[in-house]
Amino acid sequence: MAVSNGFFYHILAFTSCVAFIYFSFRDFKDDFKSHFLDYKPQVRFVEINGTQFVLDGKPFYVNGWNSYWLMDQAVDESTRPRVNAIFRTGAQMGLTVCRTWAFNDGTYNALQISPGRFDERVFQALDRVIAEAGRHGIRLILSLANNLDAYGGKSQYVKWAWEEGVGLSSSNDSFFFDPSIKRYFKKYLKTVLMRRNHMSGLQYKDDPTIFAWELMNEPRCSSDSSGRTLQNWIEEMSKYIKSIDQNHLLTVGLEGFYGPTSPPEKLNINPGEWFGMLGADFIRNNKIPTIDFASVHVYPDSWLVLADITEKENFVSEWVKSHIEDGDNILKKPVLVTEFGLSSNANGFDHSHRLLFYKSIFDTIYESAKKNGAGSGAFVWQLIVEGMEVFHDSFAFIPESIPSLHSLLKEQSCRLATLRYGSNLVRQIFKNVCK
Ligand SMILES: *[C@@H]1O[C@H](CO)[C@@H](O)[C@H](O)[C@H]1NC(C)=O
Ligand SMILES: *[C@@H]1O[C@H](CO)[C@@H](O)[C@H](O)[C@H]1NC(C)=O
Repeated sequence: MAVSNGFFYHILAFTSCVAFIYFSFRDFKDDFKSHFLDYKPQVRFVEINGTQFVLDGKPFYVNGWNSYWLMDQAVDESTRPRVNAIFRTGAQMGLTVCRTWAFNDGTYNALQISPGRFDERVFQALDRVIAEAGRHGIRLILSLANNLDAYGGKSQYVKWAWEEGVGLSSSNDSFFFDPSIKRYFKKYLKTVLMRRNHMSGLQYKDDPTIFAWELMNEPRCSSDSSGRTLQNWIEEMSKYIKSIDQNHLLTVGLEGFYGPTSPPEKLNINPGEWFGMLGADFIRNNKIPTIDFASVHVYPDSWLVLADITEKENFVSEWVKSHIEDGDNILKKPVLVTEFGLSSNANGFDHSHRLLFYKSIFDTIYESAKKNGAGSGAFVWQLIVEGMEVFHDSFAFIPESIPSLHSLLKEQSCRLATLRYGSNLVRQIFKNVCK
């Protein structure tokens, strides 16, 4: 999502998985395992069978969340406890996957300082995020670049190429076609995939705590509305990732806009005609064989600025259902709503709107999951902990501070866990979460 809030313009996502776990969080250090009735270290990768995610031979559903700030906050000792705090909060609500940024290109606390140069201190922070997620039974979707400027983004790569005198074009979309920039990005991909975590000793490509890689947060290439440029880039980069890492699932990071190759009835579902001309093409992009599952974002406030609450509700319901149908009927791949949010800055905002809107998404996912459909989960944008006002992007909230949303998130975790485990086992496994 694109949020402009003073100098912060952030988008993030992060995912995690607490499947079979119940926590009592006094002290995790030594007797971590004794707090879990069914604790298994994450030795298995989440896989795909048809339109569903599977783990240990059973369907795996995601009730997830975004906290884009984890790596950044893990760098400094003073802010590091926030990482544990959010994983604990997520686990206590039965959330299973967290989506977060595994990039920071050329800005404060950059992971990649300049092309191919990495800050070991920041890499160690990312190591820590992954290790702590694993320890809490949470899995991660790690996003690898940003279409937007927050934390560098594609424009930073273009600037680097320009500064080094190798850039072909000053257009920020040259990220998707300039040979030098594609080399930069592959170098970055390879370094991240091959990274050996200093805490777990595992290379990232071999770490089951990582649920999936995401090529880019919300890629758009509006300079080529035919969609060819972005399609070629996705094909090339997804093949490159799979050549190094055959363990992990991979998604594009799309918002879900239907593009030029979509049938007209699908184009009509876009929030407006303009959205079909951004160079993204949901069905075509996700048909690429090296892409394992599809993603959708949902931002009715930003996309339907003038609509009233009823129109927004109708849009949200139709938007999510339409993409799940695509997963079932056309793509034959799972679909995750990897971001959804309502801005507190929107005209006439009320917390009850969030409740309504989140519930509509959760119900759609649940109805699909119940029928073994492609709707496999959703990630709220976004959760924060106490003391993070500066990250308050008008979408963020501290779950404990809004009891109605906190309960809703928990209920969704329990419904989805019940589909996976059955109602008896769920009460045992999620003892303190599900009644
Ligand atoms: C995959 O799904 C099919 C159809 O639902 C099922 O029959 C099969 O057992 C599943 N395979 C695995 C490995 O889960
Ligand atoms: C690329 O993005 C940067 C950062 O937003 C912006 O300052 C610059 O003008 C853009 N370049 C072009 C050619 O649009």
